[in-house]
Amino acid sequence: MDLKTRKEPRKVLMCSPDFFDIIDVKNPYMLGNSGQVNKIEARKQWETLKNVYENWVANSYLDEVLVIDGAENCEDMVFCANQSFPFLDEKNNKQVILSKMKHASRQKEVPYFKAFYNRLNYNCIELQNTELFEGMGDTIPHPGKQLYYGGYGHRSNADAYEEISKITQTPIISLELVSDHFYHLDTCFVPLSENAVMLCKEAFTDEGINQIKIYFKTLYFIDEQEAISTFCLNAHVINYPENKKKVAVLQKGSVQAKQALLNEGFEIEEIETSAFMKSGGSVFCMKMMIY
Ligand code: ARG
Repeated sequence: MDLKTRKEPRKVLMCSPDFFDIIDVKNPYMLGNSGQVNKIEARKQWETLKNVYENWVANSYLDEVLVIDGAENCEDMVFCANQSFPFLDEKNNKQVILSKMKHASRQKEVPYFKAFYNRLNYNCIELQNTELFEGMGDTIPHPGKQLYYGGYGHRSNADAYEEISKITQTPIISLELVSDHFYHLDTCFVPLSENAVMLCKEAFTDEGINQIKIYFKTLYFIDEQEAISTFCLNAHVINYPENKKKVAVLQKGSVQAKQALLNEGFEIEEIETSAFMKSGGSVFCMKMMIY
């Protein structure tokens, strides 16, 4: 398939963990963890990730780190991959689709991001024909190409991708997510290059795996156990042609995912995100790449 090229975003947005907490159970990782957040530890781990990004800026792998303040009563807002989906239209204008979050407590987060994007002169788009869509948690671009993968079944509905495909003028490969532990696409699917992806088989249907095989030559299958216990498929990789190096940041402790990254020539930063994993998120969830 002849796909157009896509310009990758070079700014990273994070949300400060000031009001991060675990109050209810939105995913299996949160079970038994209500009230179990050590705020000092969480802040320290968040700062470590921020430092990695600041170093990447210093090395010109990225252009800028931006921070939006966490808001009171928005205990999951630190997971800023979920409230929006930014893109450039064909005239290179900055556009963003605002999410329709599944949980009422998370719906409150979206207006803060809308205000943030307005300040950056983005055009904000509200979805008209879909009930559920959780932004970049479920929608992941093919590296460098005008093609998206859209996870559905837990936090986003399949019909979201029909609407988003029209809005973004981009083909979207919809992938059904069939396991509770892999409730967002960003928990089980990490494109590494135009040709390679690492993923967990158990998260997808056979049909989904066959779809993925059409677009990637190399599939690194990571064991379900490793993906669940280390959140390694929530790694964040930067593989931009204009950069000198390929870099990746992920939770410590994976074996297979680390090997896949090394095979693909990545320089790896391993960090601790245990405080956030108790809430069902790690690196990829804690940032948003923007233009
Ligand atoms: N506790 C949050 C939730 O269940 C975690 C979100 C993780 N984000 C992600 N992109 N996977 O909504």
